[in-house]
Amino acid sequence: MCGIVGYIGDQQAYPVLIKGLHRLEYRGYDSAGIALINEKGDLSCYKAKGKVSALEAAVSDKDVTGTIGIAHTRWATHGEPNEINAHPHFSQSRNLALVHNGIIENYKSLRSMLSSHGRTFCSETDTEVLVQLVEYMQESHDCNLFTATQLALKNVVGAYAIAILDKNNPDTLVCARKGSPLIIGVGKNEDGKNPEFYLGSDATPIIEYTDQVIYLQEEEIALMNRAGDLTITNLANVKQTPQLSTLQLSLDQLEKGGYPHFMLKEIWEQPDALRTCIRGRLNVSNKDVILSGIIDHKEKFINARRIIICACGTSWHSALIGKYFIEEAAQIPVEVEYASEFRYRNPVIYPDDVVIAVSQSGETADTLAAIQLAKQKGAFLYGICNVIGSSIARATDSGTYLHVGPEIGVASTKAFTGQVITLALLGLAIAKEKHSLSDEMFHMLIDELEMIPDKMQWTLEHNKDIASFAQMFTYAKNFIYLGRGYNYPVALEGALKLKEISYIHAEGYPAAEMKHGPIALIDEEMPVVVIAPKKGMYDKIVSNIQEIKSRKGKIISVVTEGDTVVRDMSDYCFVIPDTRDCYVPMLAVIPLQLLSYYVAVAKGRNVDQPRNLAKSVTVE
Ligand code: G6P
Repeated sequence: MCGIVGYIGDQQAYPVLIKGLHRLEYRGYDSAGIALINEKGDLSCYKAKGKVSALEAAVSDKDVTGTIGIAHTRWATHGEPNEINAHPHFSQSRNLALVHNGIIENYKSLRSMLSSHGRTFCSETDTEVLVQLVEYMQESHDCNLFTATQLALKNVVGAYAIAILDKNNPDTLVCARKGSPLIIGVGKNEDGKNPEFYLGSDATPIIEYTDQVIYLQEEEIALMNRAGDLTITNLANVKQTPQLSTLQLSLDQLEKGGYPHFMLKEIWEQPDALRTCIRGRLNVSNKDVILSGIIDHKEKFINARRIIICACGTSWHSALIGKYFIEEAAQIPVEVEYASEFRYRNPVIYPDDVVIAVSQSGETADTLAAIQLAKQKGAFLYGICNVIGSSIARATDSGTYLHVGPEIGVASTKAFTGQVITLALLGLAIAKEKHSLSDEMFHMLIDELEMIPDKMQWTLEHNKDIASFAQMFTYAKNFIYLGRGYNYPVALEGALKLKEISYIHAEGYPAAEMKHGPIALIDEEMPVVVIAPKKGMYDKIVSNIQEIKSRKGKIISVVTEGDTVVRDMSDYCFVIPDTRDCYVPMLAVIPLQLLSYYVAVAKGRNVDQPRNLAKSVTVE
């Protein structure tokens, strides 16, 4: 939520910042802003409502020179998305400019305290309170920006990643974080002497310039100066040693590669992404599964009384599929929790519980808080994340990365299938340790899992021409998605995808539950998407389809290749190859992703940046 970029060095900052904002736009795109200090020492600031391109247009005739600057793309929390509420925000004297990602929970009391000391506010944001507080500390304690920031943050309740410019100190950039991520990139100035520094909410604005980064830790404050010095302390002013890491990310992974949208690119990337995910982990010749994340913690899984999976959004859907698989393969009870609910009750957690966080970004605030709660209660924590070095990955005792590459489209696609296959690997790895499957079944599941990426490719090729079909459904105000067993979470995910990017209301339901309510909604206007592979509960799903048909609902089905019964009953059919029940979700979701994509395109929606959504939700 909200993206931050910063730069100090010998280059012109504006091109670095604007390109960085474009890369971070998936985090929020309500408004954008930039602040720079030019050679004369002027602090200039420009803001625009809407996308980063609106900001670019707004500054086309402005002075954007300067080799130090900060920038922000916003996902509104406090105050409507407009130019006034856009970041950067200024202090009273307009000497300090600050950008912020997160929420200052006690901003109201801080605001009244500052007002009582004569400070006046231009915006409705919590961020303006923060920058005013830093300046108040600077003045009342007669200290430098770094110390003032430390003092200010000691009074703050909430989450923040911030970057601050000080007009009176044009050679220093200060940043800090708690709860929201912030990365410092360490590059080389052209003369090869002093380092230059980049700041980013994630690595995407940095990778173009350097792969050497420092992940700022909780409650750390950093000061970077033009001489190439970097000082990091905690809030208590204790010096911290910066840990340099090398990024595992390449620039071409961040480009659209000829596709009109990131979402379509990411849908088509799935076979390769999943091949990378299972590489070195699934060994078909030896009939083995090796997950390094559990090797040193075997006993935790073997002796687990229970597994609790915490997640949000699409990750919650993959977690549900993981539950079915792990229970079946490893015979351990699994509970799946919305992280936002879990963290605010007083859940019973035993020391022999394993708590798994599933998160593409590894930064979702609710998921992070849920595992912190579980940690306090003594559970073993396992992370399944895509973003390497993310907060959840670092907060867990062990884990497995998806390795599906960066996901930029706000609607999650390859991360979903990556999570499902990772949870399948985990289920198999635990089953191996627990000997809970027969050898025959274990080998069969390994062989079949290895074929999933090829079967995904087949599914993509056989369902790619649905653009004109999708056009027929732009009239629809509602959709219902039905599935049973492993495909019930797929129905939820299909419905979520459609809602997110086309803004058509859609509900996912377990097919047999339809008769307990949703059947009342069925009429000739209602498209009903039914996931009906020729598997375990096929006959039952056929009966459900008959019930819809007799009420004139329009049937769009996902069927196994060669199926004729459901095909004949359907108005439109998507075909997938045969596979085992437990692996069907990774294939069945593909036509549903394509359907939502093409309906959204036909409706003229902004597929990669749907309204009100953000890719990474770092606020509650
Ligand atoms: C947001 C995104 C979703 C994502 C959810 C959880 O709502 O738009 O695509 O599923 O957050 O994110 P996570 O990064 O934890 O998987």
